[in-house]
Amino acid sequence: MAFSYGAQGFVLLLMAASLLAVGEAKTIVVGGSEGWRFGFNYTDWALQNSPFYINDKLVFKYAPPSDSSSHAYSVYVLPDLWSYITCDFRRAKLLANERQGSGEGFVVVLNMWRPYYFASGGQNGALCSEGLMKFFAVPLPRWN
Ligand SMILES: *[C@@H]1O[C@H](CO)[C@@H](O)[C@H](O)[C@H]1NC(C)=O
Repeated sequence: MAFSYGAQGFVLLLMAASLLAVGEAKTIVVGGSEGWRFGFNYTDWALQNSPFYINDKLVFKYAPPSDSSSHAYSVYVLPDLWSYITCDFRRAKLLANERQGSGEGFVVVLNMWRPYYFASGGQNGALCSEGLMKFFAVPLPRWN
């Protein structure tokens, strides 16, 4: 009995916390002034900028492909940890194509309590692996 009440209380607390998170959400530019580009260590960036909270907004900023740059960046969500580790895009979901990062950037709202495995597609996975263009975020409920 006591355990059951405790579990219900915990779930209620989590629900309340995610409601409270609405007013507190932050907007965070991925990579800061570096934006979303080849060779910047986003794993490190994510560590430095953790934790993320539910309803925080991540902004991916990158230039579209041009004559002076052969890179075509994009934003995918990979389905699980293993595809993230191996930069396997076969079941990945495209969030933003190579043109959607320009201007104010592409906004992703972390509105679910789950791991988000982000990576750039392109060059047969090389932007993700050699280019370090991947990180994951597990947004937490906000308690204040
Ligand atoms: C990127 O940063 C992570 C976390 O700080 C580190 O473990 C990793 O070795 C770095 N990768 C490269 C290629 O520097």
